[in-house]
Amino acid sequence: MRVSTAPGSHSSGSITINDPPCAALSSPPAALSSPPALLSQVLLPFVEKGERKVILHISSTAGSMQSVPQIGVIYGSYSMSKAAYNMLAQKQRIERPDLTIITMCPGPVKTDMNPIDGQIEPEESVQGILRIVTSVNLGDSGKYLRYNGEVIPW
Ligand SMILES: NC(=O)c1ccc[n+]([C@@H]2O[C@H](COP(=O)([O-])OP(=O)(O)OC[C@H]3O[C@@H](n4cnc5c(N)ncnc54)[C@H](OP(=O)(O)O)[C@@H]3O)[C@@H](O)[C@H]2O)c1
Repeated sequence: MRVSTAPGSHSSGSITINDPPCAALSSPPAALSSPPALLSQVLLPFVEKGERKVILHISSTAGSMQSVPQIGVIYGSYSMSKAAYNMLAQKQRIERPDLTIITMCPGPVKTDMNPIDGQIEPEESVQGILRIVTSVNLGDSGKYLRYNGEVIPW
């Protein structure tokens, strides 16, 4: 099994029609979603040798199109990079139907990235993620799940 995360450049920069786009897009989405693509490629031989052929992508609810009405314009480039990352997982899933490839949001975790809005301890998030990643099977491939098992709408 392998886990990858798009680097969490959690800039709260808004993408608005009025803002200069270059300021908000200091981290282009393709640049942020390419490390997981490279990692997948490099680590694929190990996944193929494993008993459980699972790839877990750590994305965010911020990458969900349907989260936009709640989240608003903040986290612009972050949301765009996670949406691109979600698409990468779907492309991989179609390419490799023999692997279980899932995308997860760890939840609002109290980490360096999220010291103010964090609501849950890292232990709770990790326990939930481990519970899911150790129980998923091929039929779950392509799912977009929260750490507690909730399905996230795309
Ligand atoms: N925390 C949340 O509420 C939350 C919510 C949704 C999604 N997520 C996602 O969960 C993942 C982990 O976030 P976190 O909250 O644990 O963030 P974090 O506390 O800021 O930790 C991020 C980790 O990523 C490493 N990192 C950053 N850029 C990197 C790079 N270019 N190459 C290699 N490693 C790099 C950092 O290493 P150093 O310490 O060495 O810098 C650090 O260990 C991220 O993908 C984030 O988007 C988090």
